[in-house]
This record gives sequence, structure tokens and C-alpha cells, in this order.
Amino acid sequence: MPLKDRMLNDLWYKNAIVYCLSVGTFMDANGDGVGDFQGLLRRLDYLQGLGVTTIWLMPFQPSPGRDNGYDISDYYNVDPKYGTLGDFSEFTHACRERGLRVMIDLVVNHTSDQHPWFREARSDPDSQYRDWYVWSDKQPPNAKDGVVFPGVQKSTWTFDKQAKRWYFHRFYEFQPDLNTANPYVRAELLKIMGFWIQLGVSGFRMDAVPFVIATKGPKVREPVEQYDMLREFREFLQWRQGDAIILAEANVLPDTDLEYFGDEGERLQMMFNFQLNQNTFYALATGDTAPLKKALTATRPRPATAQWGVFLRNHDELDLGRLTPEQREAVFAAFAPEPDMQLYERGIRRRLAPMLAGDRRRLELAYSLMLTLPGTPVFRYGDEIGMGDDLRLPERECARTPMQWSTEPEGGFTKHAKPPCRVITGGAYGFERVNVASQRRDPNSFLNWMERMIRMRREVPEISWGDFDVLRTSRSDVLALRFDWRNNSVLCLHNFGAEACTVKFRSGCNEPGQNRLINLLSDEHSEEQDDGRHAVVLEPYGYRWYRVGGLDYLLRRSEI
Ligand code: GLC
Repeated sequence: MPLKDRMLNDLWYKNAIVYCLSVGTFMDANGDGVGDFQGLLRRLDYLQGLGVTTIWLMPFQPSPGRDNGYDISDYYNVDPKYGTLGDFSEFTHACRERGLRVMIDLVVNHTSDQHPWFREARSDPDSQYRDWYVWSDKQPPNAKDGVVFPGVQKSTWTFDKQAKRWYFHRFYEFQPDLNTANPYVRAELLKIMGFWIQLGVSGFRMDAVPFVIATKGPKVREPVEQYDMLREFREFLQWRQGDAIILAEANVLPDTDLEYFGDEGERLQMMFNFQLNQNTFYALATGDTAPLKKALTATRPRPATAQWGVFLRNHDELDLGRLTPEQREAVFAAFAPEPDMQLYERGIRRRLAPMLAGDRRRLELAYSLMLTLPGTPVFRYGDEIGMGDDLRLPERECARTPMQWSTEPEGGFTKHAKPPCRVITGGAYGFERVNVASQRRDPNSFLNWMERMIRMRREVPEISWGDFDVLRTSRSDVLALRFDWRNNSVLCLHNFGAEACTVKFRSGCNEPGQNRLINLLSDEHSEEQDDGRHAVVLEPYGYRWYRVGGLDYLLRRSEI
């Protein structure tokens, strides 16, 4: 094996299973109604049993909490609601004991307006912190442009009475943007990374990356991304800890992907694949897989060390802004027909299970797909049991309710009688019906299905590491992908149609006698027909995972 290939084996994030959670809504150990690190500690064996390899924690630092913690007022601490730095290091230690990696959110595009840096910057013109933010003497002409939360956020510049000047905020007005052109700000940003690395984290989910690296200021009409900054972050991280990574939140067009990864993989290791995400939902809504196939091809180019983060839903709205208006309307019509289910003129705020009407066949299709798209799957807590949402809560809060553990009051999340964030109660998605304890006892539950799928996914590294081909098939509502890696091939079929169908295709394997497809999830294998093609009958929303060629992966592994 070439030396470079051997070194690639070290990239832990390539074949990881990421699970995102917020400490505050996962498990409350001290009964005050808010989840905490001690509670999370007690649930680590559950996560390990599920097959998760990496936990991504949403912001847990001190914060006024006006944007779910994405408004940080102290980068070097734990919000007392969740515990102490001591609890955090207990947590990372317990993760390490179990071979689990920890990633945390890195929110450095902006601070809270309550951060001491901003308080000093606004009150003292001579403070060194004044230039850590972005100011203007007059209201900039484009102050109404570029808001991220249309309908809720009015502008990107706000007048500050104390400073008697305007400050820039890409997001809400209580989130003043940091001036990342200032080298002291960038040095601080590295210090923040270094601090958490020292406490045992393996990487960062970097928030709002295109905005972090954009030029900012009253004269900036079209922000320009300063991609070299990414290399600076990456180099620092790797000097401190060789295997630490950055996973970028960057909803960008495919032609800039390589700017983020770097042509040689010298910038960020991972990015969320928003193209696949949006086109997956279009395919789920309409059965038309053509745009998804296009997105797969468009996001194919990437350096060998880079990896996509593949996800379905996250803590934000499902952003459909990159679809055409007609495509977006089709997804709205299928999954968010009520205006109240939509958000920010571009997205859907619901959780996945209610979007798919709780239909087990469609849920399995969606997660089977997520597990077999090129990249590393990223779950959101509660996905594994099909949790729902509470649309009475404002904006994105509806999909951030506490984890449903059991049929005990408040779903076993807390002993507190009236926690500030209430568990979903009653109805099809209430904790009485949807919870971990009940599903654990039922071998056919969604939870146990998910656990089996995750286990199999870990045993199919071709998906994470390999090259892929979108196969031609006889049907437009079926996606057929083949992954090739080190003389092994895996082939996955997904039927987005509501009808059963027979799909015909060539596996692409030309070795005589090797064109058998071994089903990885059941005993039903597929032999090639006389014309060299396969003909597989798929149920409505059916899916298959096959190994091509009949030889067991482990037998072929001798090369490794
Ligand atoms: C990111 C987060 C989102 C947050 C925003 C501002 O987009 O995912 O939740 O509101 O950044 O920090």
C-alpha cells in the first residue's frame, strides 16, 4: 500500500458517527430543570451503545441565552447552569475512557453584546477592544442588507447609544460581529481553540465560517472571503494537536468548496454538505432524484483528506435557500404546508419525524440514505427514536425540546416538576409514546433499527473512504450509488417513490462470476441476469445495501 494511503488510515473523522446534542436539553442530574454535564455523563454508555463515535456539543459557555447559547459572554468557561470546568474535564475524560471523541461549537463570528470585550469597546473609545468590533460613524447605506433571519432581524447595523456609533452584526443585534481582520482578534480565536484542546476536545464545529472570514465594514458592499485565514486556524490546531479538526458550517456553492478544504487539503478537514441536504429533501418530497444526483456530482471534488458532514436535520431551520423557487415550493407543499411550519422565508422548522408523518418506511429511507451518502453522518439527538417538535414554541426552539428517555414525568429528562424547557407531552410524539426506554425493550423499534444500521455503516468504510459512482438505472425515482475502495465495492439503492418497483442496473463489476450482490441487511441477495444486469424489486420507499462480488470484506482486507 502506498505510504500516503497508509497515513490516511489515521483520519478518525472519515469513518466517524457524529451525534450532536445540547447539554441543557439532554439529561438533568441535579433536578434543577436544566440538563447538565453530570447528566450527560450518565448517558455516555447509551451513546456508545448506539454506535456513536463522536459527540458534538452545542455551545455550553456562559451566555445570556438569547440565541440558544450562540451568543457567548465568556469563551473560557462553562455556563454554571450546566456545571463547572471540572465537570467538563470529567466529561472529556469519561469520553476518552470509552473511545468517544468530543467536538464543540466554536462561535467566533460574534460575541454576545454582554461580553466584557463589547461592554468595554462600546463604553471606552480608547479601549483596545474598540477595534475588536466593526463600527461606523453613520448608518451605512446597506444597513438593511444581508440579514440572516428575515422576518425577525431588521438590519445588520445597529446604533449604540453608549458608543454613539453603529456596529455591525450579521445575526441578531445582540450578537456584535468580531473584527476578524484585527490580528489580536485572530490571536484570541486561536487561544480559544488551544484552551479547549487542552481540556480534551478533538475538534470544532465552526459556526458561520463564510462570515467569520469575510471582509466587514461600512464600506464593504460585497464581502470577500479571506480564505487564508482558514489555513492559519488549521496550522495552529495541528501544531497543538495533530489529529484535531474543524468541521465548517458553510452553506456555500460547490465552486467554492475547494477554497474551504484547500486544493491539497491544507485548510479545513470537514464541511457540512448543504447541497446534498437540500436536494435530499427535494427527492424525499417529490421522488425526483435528478437534482440529488447533480448535487452528488457537483460536490464530488475534494482532497483525499477532506470529508463531508452529511446530515438531515439540525438545530436550525432546514434551509432550502439553494433550491429553485419551484423546488422549494414543492418541499414546502410536502413537508411544511402551514406557514407556521416555515421560517425565515427559506426554511422549515420542524423535526424530521413529523415532516414524514411518522411513516416508518420513509424514516428508514431517509436515515438509510444519510448513512450511505458520501461522507460522515451527523445525527441530532432524538433522531434515533423519531422525536417530534412543539410548534407552539417560537422560531427554531420548536425542535430543541428535551430528550425523551422514558415514560416518567418530563420524559425522565429531569426530576423538576416544571423545567423551563418542557418535554413534548401527549399526541403521537409525546414522551409517553416516543422514548428510549420503551424502544430499547422492543426489538423492532426505530432505536434498535438505527443501532443495527449504525453498526453496519461502521463496517462499510468504503462509503467514508471510497470513490463513488452514481449508477444509471431504469428508474428516475431510485438512487443507486456504488462505492469503491481498496478492491472492495458497496452498492446502495434507495427508492424515493411511493410505489413498489423493479429497478434494473449494471453493478459496474466486470469480473466474471463476481457480479453477485450480497445483501448486507438481509438474506435476499441478487444474481446478475442473462443480460448482465441486476433486477431488484424494491418496496415503496425501499432500500438495499449490498457488497459487490460476493467476497466478504474481511476476507478481502488482507491488503490493509
Ligand atoms: C449558526 C448557528 C445558529 C446561530 C447562528 C448565529 O448558523 O447554527 O443556530 O443562530 O449561527 O450564531
